[in-house]
Amino acid sequence: MDSNSKNNNPPEKPRKRVTKQMLRRRQLTALGVIFFIIVMIVLLLTKGCSPEPKESSSEDESSTTIPIITDPAEPETTEPETTQPVTTEPGTTEFPTADPNDPNTITKIELTDHEFYLEIGQQAMSMVTMYPLESTEIGEIWTSSDENVATVDEYGLITAVSAGTCFVTVQSENNPSVDAVIRVNVTDSYADGGYFDEGYAGQTSDRSREKDSDTSRLQLLADEAKAPPVYADEGLTYIKDILIVNKEYGLPPSFAPGLEDICREQFERLSEDAAEEGLNIYIGSAYRSYFEQIDIFNEYVTEYGVNESDTFSARPGHSEHQTGLTIDCNTIDDAFGETEEAKWLAEHAHEYGFIIRYPLGKEDITGYQYEPWHIRYVGYKVAKEMYKSGECLEEYLGLA
Ligand code: DAL
Ligand code: ZN
Repeated sequence: MDSNSKNNNPPEKPRKRVTKQMLRRRQLTALGVIFFIIVMIVLLLTKGCSPEPKESSSEDESSTTIPIITDPAEPETTEPETTQPVTTEPGTTEFPTADPNDPNTITKIELTDHEFYLEIGQQAMSMVTMYPLESTEIGEIWTSSDENVATVDEYGLITAVSAGTCFVTVQSENNPSVDAVIRVNVTDSYADGGYFDEGYAGQTSDRSREKDSDTSRLQLLADEAKAPPVYADEGLTYIKDILIVNKEYGLPPSFAPGLEDICREQFERLSEDAAEEGLNIYIGSAYRSYFEQIDIFNEYVTEYGVNESDTFSARPGHSEHQTGLTIDCNTIDDAFGETEEAKWLAEHAHEYGFIIRYPLGKEDITGYQYEPWHIRYVGYKVAKEMYKSGECLEEYLGLA
């Protein structure tokens, strides 16, 4: 038997011969494939980690972890650093919010004074207390609503500039939404703001003494027909050049002339002449602002009720005392009507340009009880005519 016949396996194919050149080509191909795979993996990984592009928004900015590097010359913050109010639109004021949990945050301001009566050139200052008392942030911001009337400096020193009324405000620098207000009334004469101001009663102010020594001023006073002033303010009613104030005709809160020079000076003459006859006629109450009248009327209402109060006290804006042309002599007591002073006043007040404004028997016309102490300056001419006719002011002006 043939040896080949014993082996039935198919004959082996003859092996291809692998040359060095072929081996090198295969290696290069394998390296190329590996490189391609690595590049693909890198690309895929890079794409998967990158954030999707987004619309810019403040929310995105706050959530990003990428630090924002800014030029130190241009601070990153856009918040105003000032503590001054930020005005957004007319009439709307927004303040930077203070941290309510900070023990230094000011929560309240208290003042020793809420209203000043000043002559032009006079100065005044209120003491300020900021709460909590432990706070070290006690800076103040002072402003005046009308610097033509009164100015205020950074320490709160108020200087009266010209006649009128304005409001001076102090704000906390630390928390400007906390503030306190002072009403400032400026007159061009010494202003008697006191109600039952005993300190003034029967006295002559230094300023009026100064005026009395002024020759031109004395000549002016010699003209007894001198009429009271006429103002162009809105809300005032003049008839025959007389400012009418009663239950029907009122005055605006802003009208605050203080006691008029002519009224004070004529009263001083009256008082001096009465004194020569042994009588003591002095100022019990003179000028009162709209705001003082609020307190007075409210006090009466608390004690007597509104209906009774309306028979002897004017409502705010309806008191002649706000005109600066009215004086209550001595005491506002019915017993005053029986005194020698009241009798002298009834006979002689007109010689100085005054009328008894609420006479006996005219209550239904004036709307008020008889007040023998309440005199109103209208000037000599009018006062004399009314004295002769026996008319009250409403009758004289054709209102009754
Ligand atoms: N007693 C007068 C009416 C006033 O209050 O003005
Ligand atoms: Zn009065």
